[in-house]
Amino acid sequence: MNEILKARAPTTDLDLRNSVRREPGYEPKDRLSLEATESSIVDRFCARRHYSLALINTLSAEDMQLQSMPDTSPTKWHLAHTTWFFEQFILVSYINNYQSPQPQFNYLFNSYYEQKGQRHPRSQRGMLSRPSLEQVLAYREQINKGICDLLQKPELLANESRLELMALVELGMHHEMQHQELMLTDILHCLSQNPLYPAVFSAKSASGQGKELVDSGSNQFSFHPEWAAGVWCKTTIGLLF
Ligand SMILES: [Fe+2]
Repeated sequence: MNEILKARAPTTDLDLRNSVRREPGYEPKDRLSLEATESSIVDRFCARRHYSLALINTLSAEDMQLQSMPDTSPTKWHLAHTTWFFEQFILVSYINNYQSPQPQFNYLFNSYYEQKGQRHPRSQRGMLSRPSLEQVLAYREQINKGICDLLQKPELLANESRLELMALVELGMHHEMQHQELMLTDILHCLSQNPLYPAVFSAKSASGQGKELVDSGSNQFSFHPEWAAGVWCKTTIGLLF
């Protein structure tokens, strides 16, 4: 398992820079104007956020509610938490008198950020049947719109703030990627607890969707049809500890 971790994690600064360069739409900043960079980041933000929805394409709402152990989180929680991150660290900071569409979500979907206040215990995330998946997806849409509106109205910000905003959006996209990996490992463990050993992706959807997913993102995790729940224990258990 250590080999898997080593293969996935950048080991040097050069590896890290190269992994950033593989992002769709990435161009070195010194060759782009601020305006062009802003245009690119909107596209990449939308693609990165959409990628999370592509990953849940074959899951039911019931699947996305499962938490198989304290070290995993429900898929629904990951979807909400990554959204909360963009809201709390960008919209709250950049919009005067910002009013959250879901103020109670700050308690439910904060992970460990002390400065953002109290939070729901990690081990009980699976007890959050409400908000519903539908409400969480609607929340994603609301926050996506807020971020895109902000990025598309650069005239409201000084250049220095615009660069800082783009850096934060970039950070949020990498945070989203981290949780996309967690969504996969967590749901594999959840479904491995089912004696029917259901596959996360059907062979048919995986053969087509897998290629699409690998092609559309720069995530380094492997994705192939054999990633049915039954093989989770053999292949990924070390990632959780
Ligand atoms: Fe997180």
